[in-house]
Amino acid sequence: MTNKLPDIAVLGATGVVGREILNILEEEKIKYNSIKFLASSRSAGTTIEFNGEKHTVIEANENVFDDIDICLASAGGETSKKYAPIAAKKHCVYIDNSSAFRMDDNVPLVIAGVNDDDLKMHKGIIANPNCSTSQLMLPLKALHDKYKVKRMIVSTYQAVSGAGLKAINELTDNTKTNLVGMPFEPSAFKYEIAFNVIPQIDSFVENGYTKEEMKVTNETRKILHLPQEVKISCTAVRVPVYIGHSEAVSVEFEKDVNLDEARELLKNTWGVELRDDISTYTYPTPKDAAGKNPVYVGRMRKSIAFDNGLDFFCVADNLRIGAALNTVRIAKKVIEMNLY
Ligand code: A2P
Repeated sequence: MTNKLPDIAVLGATGVVGREILNILEEEKIKYNSIKFLASSRSAGTTIEFNGEKHTVIEANENVFDDIDICLASAGGETSKKYAPIAAKKHCVYIDNSSAFRMDDNVPLVIAGVNDDDLKMHKGIIANPNCSTSQLMLPLKALHDKYKVKRMIVSTYQAVSGAGLKAINELTDNTKTNLVGMPFEPSAFKYEIAFNVIPQIDSFVENGYTKEEMKVTNETRKILHLPQEVKISCTAVRVPVYIGHSEAVSVEFEKDVNLDEARELLKNTWGVELRDDISTYTYPTPKDAAGKNPVYVGRMRKSIAFDNGLDFFCVADNLRIGAALNTVRIAKKVIEMNLY
């Protein structure tokens, strides 16, 4: 039996990711019965234009989930901890962009096109992975299916938009201030981000890694169903780029990797676009990826550090595949698979 068209809500509709969710809902032509735009009391009453119509932003509260089938949420961890369990109890599927439930055994952590079957075990909450993990999953899943990942080292070069609107504005202000030789006091970041790189994203944990780095380790294992023996290490670095995370990835596989075959594989992987020809200086950069949906892969080469190893560089729009696009794709799957 097919459900009726869903009643949808976007929670955090006025935020950086929320606005991108609206753009992608329009682009993907998601069909719905009704749609609501939720935020805090700060922006309740303001208007949002969506699909050519003006909508009033509503303040989120417990009762709003009574008549919502699917909620696409990007309003921070605290908001999700408060509302996700309430929504789930009211039979609303809550697709959460925060890290609040990602490692919960009862919550599927899903990249659409990678582990869609995990959606079937949802109990009302579905988690969207961290942006750095997300963009890596489409190419890595294809390579893992063929060669079996044994060990992986990832270094990220992450855009400021991943840290929200305040961080975007700070890069602009910091750059302008530096250019006229004035001092600048950072607040969104610990150090100046203009003309600089900062090797810390999120807080440090006991083992000396940051939370952001451990998310790549733990979320990758959960999404690809990898055993603990698969070792994954990440260094996450903030760079002065507005949109587009880049990652240098070194993977060791169980099986021998043939470079041409691996290139062919990624050329044919859904959601991935290969930009890899050093003879023409073809490789991806964040400026190419901003505003686009694919995960771009280039600089593919056999590793000289690992046996059966492959190195590559992957770039994607962190607000899209890293957040809003995957949220909308999950919603689309939930609708197609009749899971609401
Ligand atoms: P608001 O615009 O009312 O502050 P960003 O990450 O870009 O800062 O966006 C955060 C989003 O989450 C905004 O839409 C914000 O709404 C929303 N939000 C933050 N806290 C709450 C809350 N307690 N209840 C509902 N929405 C919230």
